[in-house]
Amino acid sequence: YGNQSLVVVANRLPVDRCEGSWSPSPGGLVSAVAPMVKESRGAWIGWCGTSDEEFEPFEFDGMHLVPIALGSDEYDKYYEGFSNATLWPLYHDLVVPPQFHRSWWKTYLSTNARFAQAAVDAAAHEATIWIHDFHLQLVPEMIRAQRPDVRIGFFNHIPFPSESIFAQLPWRDSILRGLLGADVIGFQLDSDVENFRSAVSRFLGISSEELPNTVRAYPISIDADAIHRVAEAEETQHRARQMREELDDPRCLIVGVDRLDYTKGILHRLRAYHELLEDGVLDPQETTFVQVAVPSREGLESYQDLRDEVEQLVGNINGSFGAMDRAAVHYFHHSYSFESTVALYLAADVLLVTSLRDGMNLVAKEYVAARHDSGALVLSEFAGAAAELDEALLVNPHDIAGLKDAIRLGAEMPPAEAQRRMASMAEVVDGHDIHRWARAFLDDLRPMPPTRAPTT
Ligand code: UDP
Ligand code: G6P
Repeated sequence: YGNQSLVVVANRLPVDRCEGSWSPSPGGLVSAVAPMVKESRGAWIGWCGTSDEEFEPFEFDGMHLVPIALGSDEYDKYYEGFSNATLWPLYHDLVVPPQFHRSWWKTYLSTNARFAQAAVDAAAHEATIWIHDFHLQLVPEMIRAQRPDVRIGFFNHIPFPSESIFAQLPWRDSILRGLLGADVIGFQLDSDVENFRSAVSRFLGISSEELPNTVRAYPISIDADAIHRVAEAEETQHRARQMREELDDPRCLIVGVDRLDYTKGILHRLRAYHELLEDGVLDPQETTFVQVAVPSREGLESYQDLRDEVEQLVGNINGSFGAMDRAAVHYFHHSYSFESTVALYLAADVLLVTSLRDGMNLVAKEYVAARHDSGALVLSEFAGAAAELDEALLVNPHDIAGLKDAIRLGAEMPPAEAQRRMASMAEVVDGHDIHRWARAFLDDLRPMPPTRAPTT
């Protein structure tokens, strides 16, 4: 046995090896899980972001990191293939058609076995092993087969699809059996739990009452204190003012912050914004739109196509409505640090989250925590965050007319209304932060105390 009492297993480590140095990995999983691993001084097993270099385990920011090097075949078939071109679109309600290839599945199996083995090797006797996300759904069962002494948790950060969509997956039974190796199986929303339960019942013939596992919703959240600290720092506020000045102090600054992913509805929001300019509802002299589009999964055609379309549309909008001294859309194809992202939240008048499907969307919660009593949030009904943030301007992003109305309302929202809505949402976010999320999950994962024989 190893000597780690809490082992987190996720496809990615919180840091990525890139051009000889370590930088923060993209995405909400890392933002959410890292504070918990730091606090409990746990171990984290994950891919280090390269396919040509191997690294020994090392200490980083209070965490014990165990890098897994993916070979180029694993990168192609397990990561880009089965994870991102089969499961990702399938679990996001078929935003693009999922591809099913038996060779990808074979490599998904063998790569899951490698992650499982690394966890088995690192975990101390009776340790807690917490597996994260859709890349590693077979790992719970694989660990269970070797280590009956450990407690195993699994949390899915993305939606779990409806039974009829999940039915398409040729390997659906194996995925369900893989997940059922965990003692606690967590999802973002009650609807994901329902979908999982009906899949288990239909494909494995096991009813909810028969399941020995704890299956529950644990809506993920953010490190609200960390956001408050950064948002309140003079440096961040200065940076926010500077950003507005650099943009020539628009009357209304609209902002979007996303990975460049087809689930995020970036084209839909650009179309709505374009039409608002065309209709004369928004004045290009007074309005600016900043879109941060973090590069993501760039080897995949669907992501390359999206990038082309977004960049073309940004070009069209600027071609029609930009001026020498003012762009209608500022588009950034790179990521910002946590501090700069918070500064951008502070600078924004309206934040647009228009996901076509999203497990939670942490950007929405971060904006609320950073602002507390000002700013407008336009939020898709199809993002998990909408279940908690019901004082946002909720939209169906497919309904461009409705999306236009919501952007206009956000741009014109009276300060008193913005204050009321934001304060109410901030209460929800502050009261349900990431530490509470981790505690709820880990409390359920604790071993049951042995049942005492009744005294007579
Ligand atoms: N983020 C960041 N820099 C950027 C853009 C995004 O640090 O330039 C962070 C953002 O603060 C959030 C995460 O990336 O914590 C995105 O999480 P979300 O749940 O919104 O989406 P995901 O990328 O996981 O689909
Ligand atoms: C989402 C997924 C994470 C993933 C992240 C970034 O948040 O839930 O598991 O790490 O996107 O995607 P990438 O493919 O770059 O890891």
